[in-house]
Amino acid sequence: MKKFIGLVGTNADHSTNRMLLQFMQKKFKQQADIELMEIRDIPIFNKPEDKVVPNIVKEMAEKIEQADGVIISTPEYDHSVPASLINALNWFSYGIFPFVDKPVMITGASYGTLGSSRAQLHLRQILDAPELKARIMPSSEFLLSHSLQAFDENSNLKDNDQVEKLTRLFEDFLVFVELVNQLTHAHGDNKKEAENFSWENI
Ligand SMILES: Cc1cc2nc3c(=O)[nH]c(=O)nc-3n(C[C@H](O)[C@H](O)[C@H](O)COP(=O)(O)O)c2cc1C
Repeated sequence: MKKFIGLVGTNADHSTNRMLLQFMQKKFKQQADIELMEIRDIPIFNKPEDKVVPNIVKEMAEKIEQADGVIISTPEYDHSVPASLINALNWFSYGIFPFVDKPVMITGASYGTLGSSRAQLHLRQILDAPELKARIMPSSEFLLSHSLQAFDENSNLKDNDQVEKLTRLFEDFLVFVELVNQLTHAHGDNKKEAENFSWENI
C-alpha cells in the first residue's frame, strides 16, 4: 500500500484544510496510508549560516523522503499561501531536499467561492523552485469552496459531486505516482543540482 504524507498547510487550530485531509485519510484508507503532518511547531525560518536545520524539520523531511508522495492542502491568505506553509517549505529547501522529484497532489479549501485557486497556483510555482523541484500532478485542481459549510456533523464532505471528483483525482494521483517512479533517468542530476544550487552563482 502506498504511504503518503498529508501536509496541513496552516498552523491554525481550526482548519477546513485539515478536515479535508482527514476526510481523504478516512475515505481512501483502503488505497493508501495517509499520515497527517502538522507545521505549527516549526520555528520561523531565519537562514542560519551553518545550515543546521531544527530537529523537528529534519524529522519531518525524513518522513517526506520515505513517503511515496505528499498531498498538500492549502488555505488562501491574501491571494497566496499562508506564511506558515511557505515557512515550512523554506526550511525544506535549505540544505535538505526532501521534495526533489517527490510526487505532490495539491488541494485547498477556502471560505469563499474560489476555493483557494490563487494560493494553489502560487504553491505550484513555489514547489518548482530549484531546491524544492517537486513533481506536481499536472492539470488538476481540487478547490473546496465555502469550506465552512462543506462538512457534515461527522466531518464528511456533504457534496457527492465533490466527493466523486476528489476520488477520481486521488485515483489519478495513484497513477501519477507510478509514472513519476519511472522517471528515474534524471533523478540523480536533479538531486545533485538542488544540492549544488546557489543563489549567489546565478
Ligand atoms: C489573513 C487572511 C487572508 C485571507 N485571504 C483570503 C483570500 O485572499 N482569498 C480567499 O478566498 N480567502 C481568504 N481568506 C479566507 C480563507 O478562505 C480562509 O481563511 C482559509 O482559506 C480557510 O482555510 P482553513 O479553514 O484551513 O483555515 C483569508 C483569511 C485570512 C485570515
